[in-house]
Amino acid sequence: MQLALLAAGIQPGDEVITTPVTFIGTANSIIMAGGTPVFADVDRATANIDPACVEAAITERTRAILPVHLYGQMCDMTAICDIARPRGLVVVEDAAHSLESEWNGKKPGHYGDFACFSFYATKNITSGEGGAISSRDAAKTELLRKLRLHGFDKSALERYSNHFERYDVDTFGWKYNMDNIHAAILVEQIKKVEGFLARRVEIYARYAEAFGGIDGIEIHSIRPEARHACHLFTILVDRARRDRILEEIQNRGVGVSVNFYPVHLMTYYRERFGFRPGAFPVAEDIGARTISLPLYPKLTGEEIEFVIQTVTDVVRET
Ligand SMILES: Cc1ncc(COP(=O)(O)O)c(C=O)c1O
Repeated sequence: MQLALLAAGIQPGDEVITTPVTFIGTANSIIMAGGTPVFADVDRATANIDPACVEAAITERTRAILPVHLYGQMCDMTAICDIARPRGLVVVEDAAHSLESEWNGKKPGHYGDFACFSFYATKNITSGEGGAISSRDAAKTELLRKLRLHGFDKSALERYSNHFERYDVDTFGWKYNMDNIHAAILVEQIKKVEGFLARRVEIYARYAEAFGGIDGIEIHSIRPEARHACHLFTILVDRARRDRILEEIQNRGVGVSVNFYPVHLMTYYRERFGFRPGAFPVAEDIGARTISLPLYPKLTGEEIEFVIQTVTDVVRET
């Protein structure tokens, strides 16, 4: 995402609008590219960035929008493009959760100028570490190839495979290339995408059915335009009891987590940018109430029922 923003021409002082309900790396990438992160609150139903809040956050310094397709559901890309295009704003999609997702039948990378994917260990497919960028512009793709490898205009493969080839560096670059060993793992994982997804969809559907009607538990909804990648399944519980519920679910043998504590309330962001609680009320409410449940293809039917029973009991009893 840092390189996508740099390829998009982000300059120091440019503002990039993103969501506070995301992994810290989303906002950090804006800072790494020299930009200033500006947050826009989220839609309560999906936890994705709210286009109306994006529009309200635009200033004369805004250069880009960085929507995050959270949990596996794409943002309202129709509305985001309608805001971005007439103003000439760049759109970089954070598709770390959403390799398989679609919005009106189109995948990440269709709507934005760039889409960024993650193959980190927790993702739907993984090479351990690594990621990918899709770009809609051939010249930007060439630039990205340089930015990811010290600015070289030739890869090591091109330099060493046959006769030695002279190379040049005409731009500053980083060491962000994927190595062949990780790529070999990823090639095999890519073959499994749809199989893994089919199982994730089953698990997600079972959770949605089970948790849809339980007092004290709310779940996010899926928009009709969206094909969900079912990366994470989260529930919302009572704010005052969330941490006790989280603790007790773990005590009873189910692994849970929080995705995400709002980025603007992290100490670094408070101290550097002066954010205070209350700035983004919906994001803060979700951050204080959310719990992520186990969701991975190898979960057995028995384990899924155990998760459902345990979570339901704990919410009732705590
Ligand atoms: C929404 C989101 N964006 C970006 C990232 C960063 O991806 P990576 O770990 O590959 O840098 C993650 C998680 O890892 C994420 O959850």
